[in-house]
This record gives sequence, C-alpha cells and structure tokens, in this order.
Amino acid sequence: MVTEGYDPLGTFNWADHLPLLKWLDLQGVRRRCNRLVQKVEVFVGKIIQEHRTRRANGGVSDEFMGDFVDVLLGLEGDEKLSDSDMIAVLWEMIFRGTDTVAILMEWIMARMVLHPDIQAKAQAELDAVVGRGRGVTDADVANLPYIQCIVKETLRMHPPGPLLSWARLAIHDAHVGGHLVPAGTTAMPEAFRPERFQEEDVSVLGSDLRLAPFGAGRRVCPGKMLALSTTHLCIAQLLHQFEWAPAAAGGGVDLSERLNMSLEMATPLVCNAAPRVQAA
Ligand code: HEM
Repeated sequence: MVTEGYDPLGTFNWADHLPLLKWLDLQGVRRRCNRLVQKVEVFVGKIIQEHRTRRANGGVSDEFMGDFVDVLLGLEGDEKLSDSDMIAVLWEMIFRGTDTVAILMEWIMARMVLHPDIQAKAQAELDAVVGRGRGVTDADVANLPYIQCIVKETLRMHPPGPLLSWARLAIHDAHVGGHLVPAGTTAMPEAFRPERFQEEDVSVLGSDLRLAPFGAGRRVCPGKMLALSTTHLCIAQLLHQFEWAPAAAGGGVDLSERLNMSLEMATPLVCNAAPRVQAA
C-alpha cells in the first residue's frame, strides 16, 4: 500500500493545474487514490478495532501502558479523535515512517560493511556501555554517542529525504587549496567520518541549516524523534549481536543511489551476519 501511495504522489497531475480536467480524471489519479483510501481504511481500521477489543477486555493496565494506538484511543474531551482522524494519523505514520527508516538503516549497514574499523569502534562502545551479558535497550542509547555520530554521518551522506543537504554551492568562482572551484559547483566532504560530529556537535533536528535531513521550520518532519530513536536502537542491537561483512558471493557494496520518493540504494545491500564471539 505504501508503494501504491507513492506512485500517484510522484505523478505530475494535470488536473492540479487545470481545474477543468479535475472531473475527467484523465490520468486516473483520483480513482487510484480513492481505491487506496478504501484499502487503508480497512487495514488501519482493523488495527484500531483490535486495540479497542483489547482495551475492553482490560488489556491496558498500569504495567502494560499500551502502544501509540492505545494513547490515541485514550484521548478524551477536546482531544478525542474521530475514527477517520485516527486512521489518517496512523496511516501517515505507516506511509511516511516505514521506508524512510528502513532505507536509512540499509545505508548505515552498508557503511558498516564498508568500514570495518568504524564498525569495530561502535562495537567497542557497545561492549563498554552494555557489555555482553544482556541486550541493548532504549535506555542505553543516550550513552552511545559514537553510534549516534554514525547515524548523523549517514544522514549527511545518504539522506533518505534529500531536501536540504550538507552540500555547498559555490556562488562565485573560488580557489580552495590551489584548486579552482567554478561558480555553480556543489561540494561536500566525501569521506565517511562519524568523528566529525564528535569534533563539532551539529544538530540534525532542524535548528542548524547546515544539516537538516528532516527539513526545518513549520514543515519539519514530525516523526524525526521516532525515526532517530528507532534507528539508534535497531542499529545498536544489530551491531551488538553480529559482525557484518560483505556477502561472500557479491563482493563489495555498491553505493549508487536511486531517487524514488526516498533516496534508496540502487542495488539492495546483501551482507553476511556472523554472531559475535563471546569475549573471553
Ligand atoms: C529517517 C527517517 C526519516 C527522514 C529522513 C524523514 C525526512 C522527512 C523530510 C525531509 C520531510 C519533509 C520536510 C519538509 O517538507 O520540509 C518529512 C516530512 C514528514 N515526515 Fe518524515 N522522515 C523520516 C521519518 C519519519 C517518520 C518515522 C514519520 C512518522 C512516524 C514521518 C512522518 C513525516 C510526515 C507526516 C511528514 C510531512 C510533514 C508535513 O508535510 O507537514 N517521517 N520527513
């Protein structure tokens, strides 16, 4: 359904520009959207209904606080959402939050496979902070600054939503280190070096326009905190449990990009995961 939704989103719809064409729906955009809306209503409606049933059977307690859907269902008074608003909020999370996070994680893992030294440094951080006796939890993430730097560096080099990047545009001819950089050139450091964020703390949340992978201002991504906490935790867990290496058959990692609605890896990452050996 996400793929089905992205397709009309990326279509140039003549009816948006020539209102007379709107009712003819020559490109079938309206028809496709209506069909998708029906599917979404059934799919998300079922999730809401399951939560309602669980709540009615006493499923949410002080011990089990429930999930995001339970929070929405628990809103009262002026805050109470209609079913169609709730479906819209939940669908937005699925639609905008699934492939962006998955794609970011794929780029991060590609970088981990390409840079075993950086992977080893992240694993050393995990061993020092978490140890090998238990799994990584949400509470550990704040104590894993190097892994946070890896995520930032990946957002810098491979932003899933490349609206504002860290690239610089030369607005006039310039000389840098003896090289001529002609006006109109875009330039960006190409080395994958998470340490740059240890040297200079740059926020990725939209307050520093040098690096705004979630946008900035009024239209800034509302899912940025969820995206970051999911990514930090999952990447930390993957690195804690496994050593990652290029797939034996495929060889290296192809970093070519493909710009769909998000900036994807043109060649999906294939790699080997070997359980990490227990330290003696
Ligand atoms: C790594 C993951 C993500 C990246 C890189 C990302 C990036 C972005 C960017 C660049 C925008 C456009 C901002 C603008 O128009 O200026 C955006 C918008 C949006 N994002 Fe995210 N996003 C991510 C994850 C998520 C998640 C997890 C959710 C929901 C749970 C989400 C929900 C949205 C929504 C609803 C908008 C539209 C906001 C609007 O137009 O007002 N995103 N995101």
